[in-house]
Amino acid sequence: MARIPELHLVASLLFALPALLCACAGTPPPAPPVAAAAPAPPAVDDPHSSARPQEVAVEHLALDLTVDFDRKQLAGRASLRLRNPAGATRLYLDTRDLEIRRVLLDSGTEARFTLGDPQPHLGRELAVEIAPGTRTVHVDYATSPEAAALQWLEPRQTSGEQPFLFTQSQAILARTWIPLQDTPGVRATYEATIRVPPGFLALMSAENPTAKSADGVYRFRMPQPVPSYLLALAVGDLAFRPLGDRAGVYAEPAVVERAAWELADTPKMIQAAEKLYGPYRWGRYDVLVLPPSFPFGGMENPRLTFATPTILAGDRSLVALVAHELAHSWSGNLVTNATWNDFWLNEGFTVYFENRIMEAIYGRPYSEMLAALGRGDLLETIEELGAESPDTRLKLDLAGRDPDDGVTDVAYDKGYLLLRRIEEVVGRPRFDKFLRSYFERHAFGSMDTETFLGLLDRELLAEQAELRDEVRQWVYQPGLPATAPQPRADAFAKVEAQAQAFAAGTAAAALQTQGWSTHEWLHFLRSLPSPVAADRMADLDQTFKLSESGNSEVLAAWLEKVIASSYAPAYPALERFLTGMGRRKFLQPLYTALAKSPAGAELALRIYEKARPGYHAVSRQTIDKILDWRG
Ligand code: BES
Ligand code: ZN
Repeated sequence: MARIPELHLVASLLFALPALLCACAGTPPPAPPVAAAAPAPPAVDDPHSSARPQEVAVEHLALDLTVDFDRKQLAGRASLRLRNPAGATRLYLDTRDLEIRRVLLDSGTEARFTLGDPQPHLGRELAVEIAPGTRTVHVDYATSPEAAALQWLEPRQTSGEQPFLFTQSQAILARTWIPLQDTPGVRATYEATIRVPPGFLALMSAENPTAKSADGVYRFRMPQPVPSYLLALAVGDLAFRPLGDRAGVYAEPAVVERAAWELADTPKMIQAAEKLYGPYRWGRYDVLVLPPSFPFGGMENPRLTFATPTILAGDRSLVALVAHELAHSWSGNLVTNATWNDFWLNEGFTVYFENRIMEAIYGRPYSEMLAALGRGDLLETIEELGAESPDTRLKLDLAGRDPDDGVTDVAYDKGYLLLRRIEEVVGRPRFDKFLRSYFERHAFGSMDTETFLGLLDRELLAEQAELRDEVRQWVYQPGLPATAPQPRADAFAKVEAQAQAFAAGTAAAALQTQGWSTHEWLHFLRSLPSPVAADRMADLDQTFKLSESGNSEVLAAWLEKVIASSYAPAYPALERFLTGMGRRKFLQPLYTALAKSPAGAELALRIYEKARPGYHAVSRQTIDKILDWRG
């Protein structure tokens, strides 16, 4: 009988530990290769942006911001350098909850500007009157304490004794901390001066320092053009550990050693990725492990992936997340979805690429377990949305809605299965050659679904009319086509046999679970019937210590079963988990299940009331809806 390894409790990250100061020096990396020409203006309209980049496009951004923890405010100047070939006389920007103080042109003339009425999800359009020859527009502004991209953490929400700030710009939250053209169809290079209190380290999706500055002033440079959703900033008591010569990890001092151990395979992943689809174009690749309220598993901020500490399982079993965010350095950051309706071009490609990295490093049986779990998630999501729901199409229609509504397993796992289907029909060598040239030829550009289908037809499927039609079915029709590949996870057959044996009455201690990995445990828990009787839940918990698991994925899967079985003895563990971290992927199914269970609705509200102030706006928005929260 095996037990789930006793690992660090996620919730323990909430408790303050003495802050350690670190001044790790690092050699600056060599300057990365930069995109040669200025990116072309986008070919398609973005329903989530007021910018009209076909008329005037921002090509470079210079920020000068002061970080004020007491007022929960960023204030300063954004200087936008324009490309205005046709001599337009108005620049349109996106803003939301920003206080616009003053707008200046070039060397200082004050400009007239108007702020439009607030639009749901989108915020307010900022129209600035410019001259045909205006080169740079300077906007003096300040953020609101409620800015949705920003989370201002109290020291008790960190593992140290200082406050912490981080941003989350994807999908359309960059406009809540910078006035800009907030659409993935526009790319700009950037530089920034960030002023923080002494004793803090500031990091961005840019060339980064590895040690604190004496005066709290940090200067950043991002020489490759990036879309607005990849702008990112984090400020806190942070330390750095190198992982080889072009990768490293940042985290709070109390976490950084554990993070460095967990992510030790990162350099191998970079190597494997380059071997698959061409050179890494961004210089360094570092990971910042954030405090537990970070609302996502990971965010592919260029040069600096932001990650949840819930991947620190103590056994390196959850590092596929790093493979995923790293893969975005090609799919997403190099070739970017033109609008949020084309989100699957970012995420579906990235899940495919992630899986290939995992296969290259850990072998096919391992990557097939990941693929099988993803397929299971997808089937569940399609069932929840309804097989006829338009949101189960790959090409989305999010006009008039929050692009966040499009963030489901469909873009990720249906997108993955489509690419795998194409691979299986045309053969891996041809598909890899196609992808490699796709990333190279469209690097630093944007891609919409129709353009992609056109080039797929021409370059790969010229002789395959049937598959061309099938691909369109995948993209434009709801549900999952019958031709969807079936990952072969042989290990899972044995797991299912054990789940059946348990369901038929075998005691937990008599199950054959020796040597099971995280993924086998996940499959086991998902294969159990629902509900499970209380005495059998107790047997599982006592035997495998599931409620105390330090593996966040295993714990979350167990807690779903706990709710489905109304197994009250594990509710304290449920409450600890829900109040100890803010990752939406874990919160969403747990609150949803609680809200549906008769006895759980009240408990959900009681826990949420306590936990909500500690969640990021992104997670709050989702859970508010689930619980019909009115405050
Ligand atoms: N880019 C996404 C996160 C995201 C998507 C943020 C849409 C805002 C809007 C990131 O790459 C991602 O997919 N993260 C996943 C992890 C991954 C392993 C599937 C997550 O956070 O769970
Ligand atoms: Zn992703």
